[in-house]
Amino acid sequence: MRKKIVAGNWKMNMNLEEGLLFAKSVNQYFMEKPSGKAEVILCTPFIHLSGISEILNKGKMTFGAQNCASEPSGAYTGEVSAMMIKSTGAEYVIIGHSERRSFYHEDDRLLNKKTILALNSGLKVIFCCGEVKGEREEGKHFIVVKRQLEEGLFTLPTEEMEKVVIAYEPVWAIGTGLTATPDQAQEMHKYIRSLVREKYGKECAEILTILYGGSCKPSNAQEIFSKPDVDGGLIGGASLKKEDFVAIVEAI
Ligand code: 13P
Repeated sequence: MRKKIVAGNWKMNMNLEEGLLFAKSVNQYFMEKPSGKAEVILCTPFIHLSGISEILNKGKMTFGAQNCASEPSGAYTGEVSAMMIKSTGAEYVIIGHSERRSFYHEDDRLLNKKTILALNSGLKVIFCCGEVKGEREEGKHFIVVKRQLEEGLFTLPTEEMEKVVIAYEPVWAIGTGLTATPDQAQEMHKYIRSLVREKYGKECAEILTILYGGSCKPSNAQEIFSKPDVDGGLIGGASLKKEDFVAIVEAI
């Protein structure tokens, strides 16, 4: 049985006090009304990680970072290493988000390096992939996602791949209010699972959790999550509003 996950990606939002208050309130909600089968993850800015580890009830909710350095340690001013993230108690790190790929020019090779470092540090990786609007319009979305996975992820041995969650986030749907239709999401998720099956075998593909991200909200979550290859969501904007976030978790 593969794991269902709803992960909130706060991006660069909320100061320390706001973030901790928010996490406390969401944690309280799920203590009173357990989230069922879904694992709920908060992916926060670095500054919140250690505070949040004091707040979250282990087992009910987990947390992670949104990025990590591409080097293990040393003279890299301003960077935060995977080991440092792990030392806060975080379990996950998002790697390859489209905002990192586009604004910070992170390419497949660099993302592969970060993924290996994160896994070696004991973190699980939420690896993002997805095409931009023009690529979909030209019918290149499958080719783009295949390249991102082959170069970013498929160098991993099977036992490491089992610690990876893939998030399909079509870039044209992120923060735009445009959502992939449930059929578009299912089509790509099925394709991703087939690539993993080819490379790693049936068992690995069957247990792989694949999340959808891109303007996911309470009104569309249930329909998207009902597709057989969609195992949950990576939620941006709607993860900043408690009512919306818990409604999306409950939709699963
Ligand atoms: P939105 O839900 O705001 O579209 O963002 C999706 C996302 O980028 C999650 O990582």
